[in-house]
Amino acid sequence: MGAGVRRVLGSKWTKLPVFILCLVPLGRLVWRALHHHLTANPIEFITHQTGDWTLIFIVVTLAVTPARKLLRLPELIRFRRMLGLFAFFYGFLHFSTWIGLDKFFDWSEMLHDVRKRPFITAGFTGFTLMIPLALTSTAGWIRRLGGKRWLALHRLIYLTAIAGVVHYYWLVKSDVRKPVFYGALVVLLLLLRIGLWLGSRRPKQAAEVLKPELTTAETG
Ligand code: HEM
Repeated sequence: MGAGVRRVLGSKWTKLPVFILCLVPLGRLVWRALHHHLTANPIEFITHQTGDWTLIFIVVTLAVTPARKLLRLPELIRFRRMLGLFAFFYGFLHFSTWIGLDKFFDWSEMLHDVRKRPFITAGFTGFTLMIPLALTSTAGWIRRLGGKRWLALHRLIYLTAIAGVVHYYWLVKSDVRKPVFYGALVVLLLLLRIGLWLGSRRPKQAAEVLKPELTTAETG
């Protein structure tokens, strides 16, 4: 890839526009809320929008490592942590919409849904798995856990992605094209990851793999 693209991606100024871009889905929701454009069923609309964006950010986060290797753009790693945290952020909004606007903090009904409605169980599992990932995304936690354990923990993102896709697949009534599309993307990214891992000439030490991760976490 061109030196120009690498210079832009490596620049300290690029993170801010990416950050702002990641806030666009939220901005659109706020704008629509202020202009009374949240459709006839605002709760459903917000739930669907935030759910869609959670899944999109999960997939984009998963795509960073294969993309940086295949496109030879190591600088892409600088954005992985931010993208992962945005996946968590939209997941949190999605979950909070369900808790506050859909269920009105009725804890017993929520517990019943988590236990008895399979698509809620899957979504809840996916979101719960994201919590330790978000909490341990800092440089301090990378050091505290040590490379191997941190990497093993952060592979949970694949389970989150699978749970998110299953959640989506189970909740749609008839047209399964979108969840199947996301599912295919997750499988493809997982296979790419395995392929790249098998193709690497020598086994890498956890510290070596984590070096860019640690640098990103330290520099914010
Ligand atoms: C990794 C976590 C999650 C992901 C990726 C995710 C993703 C999605 C997606 C893509 C949709 C459909 C959006 C559309 O139709 O355009 C959705 C809908 C929904 N999600 Fe989630 N979700 C997650 C977690 C949760 C959790 C924790 C809950 C609540 C416990 C939840 C409750 C719902 C509900 C109630 C709907 C709407 C269902 C309907 O319209 O029948 N989700 N979610």
